[in-house]
Amino acid sequence: VSYQFDVVTIFGPLMTGYLGGSILGRAANAGRISVRYENPRDHTHDVHKSVDDGTYGGGAGMLMTPGPLGDAIDAVRARQPDTRVVLLGPAGRRFDQQIAEEYAQCGALTLVCGRYEGVDERIAAHAVDEELSVGDFVITGGELAAMTVIDAVSRLLPGVLGHADAAVGESFTDLPLLEQPQYTRPRQWRGHGVPDVLLSGNHGAVDAWRLEQRIARTKARRPDLYAKYLAQISAKESDKA
Ligand SMILES: C[S@@+](CC[C@H](N)C(=O)[O-])C[C@H]1O[C@@H](n2cnc3c(N)ncnc32)[C@H](O)[C@@H]1O
Repeated sequence: VSYQFDVVTIFGPLMTGYLGGSILGRAANAGRISVRYENPRDHTHDVHKSVDDGTYGGGAGMLMTPGPLGDAIDAVRARQPDTRVVLLGPAGRRFDQQIAEEYAQCGALTLVCGRYEGVDERIAAHAVDEELSVGDFVITGGELAAMTVIDAVSRLLPGVLGHADAAVGESFTDLPLLEQPQYTRPRQWRGHGVPDVLLSGNHGAVDAWRLEQRIARTKARRPDLYAKYLAQISAKESDKA
């Protein structure tokens, strides 16, 4: 069965190159994912096909009007009634691996991309299921954010990554921890070697080193994530007791 992505965007062609290549392109060719585009301009009724207008109350810049955007969302919902509709925007819930896993269970996801200075608030309030941010920064449009979500969700779907457990033990996946440092050939590069334990052939020692590294790195770089990890292990301990 294929996972259905729909993207509401006035710039679909910006996305097709990325989504058509490499692992995601292969997943699409194999019928594991499908990406369709719905252009709000196709839901305009004026000769200029306009999708934006000035802001009530004044202020610089244009906003996407709710008319064509709302009609484009309706068109997607009509052909894919089970889809979860997500508006991309900096004011949304912050995207992370857990949300990617949640979306991977959905079967169909619609990503609504803003442009200009954003989108009339009535879309967020009345036309979508939720609003999602990819981080605390502002980009020029929702397309890059939508591609980020499509990519993160797709690689969790069965059969998308070549190796069955390639997504196991990665950052955030099994535990709220960053991934450990990894090394490949050559053994010496510009005078820098690789940790001896990785060359020891002792799998138990390698696994212990990896977990140790994940914990140390997370503690040093991401205190927020480390706190989550500590909470998770203390919850597990009290389950056992
Ligand atoms: C220039 S941004 C609008 C920013 C808006 N005026 C604000 O200050 O929050 C245009 C569009 O890009 C997308 N976008 C920008 N930053 C984003 C982010 N961090 N996460 C998700 N989408 C984002 C949204 O779809 C948004 O409607």
